[in-house]
Amino acid sequence: MSEMDSQAQRRPKITLTSLAAKKAAKDPIVMVTAYDHPSAQLAEEVGIDLVLVGDSAANVVLGYDSTVPVTVAEMLMLTAAVRRGVCSALVVADLPFGSYEVSDRQAVRTAQRFIKVGGADAVKLERGGTSVDRARAVVAAGIPVMGHVGLTPQAATSLGGYRAQGRTSAQAEQLITDALALQDAGCFAIVVEAVPAAVTELLVPLLSCPVIGIGAGAAADGQVLVWHDLLGLNVGRVAKFVRRFADLRTETITGLSAYAAAVRSREFPAAEHTYGMPPEELDALRAKLALDRADGGSDPR
Ligand code: KIV
Repeated sequence: MSEMDSQAQRRPKITLTSLAAKKAAKDPIVMVTAYDHPSAQLAEEVGIDLVLVGDSAANVVLGYDSTVPVTVAEMLMLTAAVRRGVCSALVVADLPFGSYEVSDRQAVRTAQRFIKVGGADAVKLERGGTSVDRARAVVAAGIPVMGHVGLTPQAATSLGGYRAQGRTSAQAEQLITDALALQDAGCFAIVVEAVPAAVTELLVPLLSCPVIGIGAGAAADGQVLVWHDLLGLNVGRVAKFVRRFADLRTETITGLSAYAAAVRSREFPAAEHTYGMPPEELDALRAKLALDRADGGSDPR
């Protein structure tokens, strides 16, 4: 049994009930994005509660300049990889832009694929409005749904870019209305992204389901950050709400540069990285090759 398996066995499986209990007990819920198997294993080892296969994969893993282009097929592959690395955490998969908005039927079909093929425990969809109906339909089909309000990157263009939301009383009221409607539709938790901390403080007591904040202040029932942001893996500016808890980019560059230098100087591979061969076998091979050459160079294969 691997170290990870034994740790996961000691840790109870996170369920919708245990998440609600965490909210009631004011025990902060920890969520992180992950997009591949080794990252998922690390999240599991650390005891993360919720692993989100976010469509932020579009930006941080696949090199798109927004979350809009990522496809169901791409997200399914990443979700399945994460699933294989996680035992006790709840795996939530983002439904990509264009895969759920058209009709309840489309939303249920796509959500089913993420559960059946991707192995996710739950799906997440963005916005209030018609997404509330989609959430209700998916919940009615027996699939747990997480909502997402505030800055919803799939609609960034309509929202005026990647900027904080709910900064006027009218906007904040709409955000609260959307969150309540998503809860009424059966969502088990709601992500609130890039909104003033004061709005979250007002929202959290209004909802019985957990609120997971990202750039939404300390009052949320839990927090989520994007893997590459929190570990310092990406280049350039990050959002105001990101704290870098590690600098893996520098670490990675140091390691890669050392590898490249060692290959170029022939210092790597060293003897300990190399397979040996019984001397008599080597002598036999040499003799054979010499014979072949004497015969006119027949092909040793
Ligand atoms: O896709 C994502 O990573 C997300 C989080 C920012 C909540 O939706």
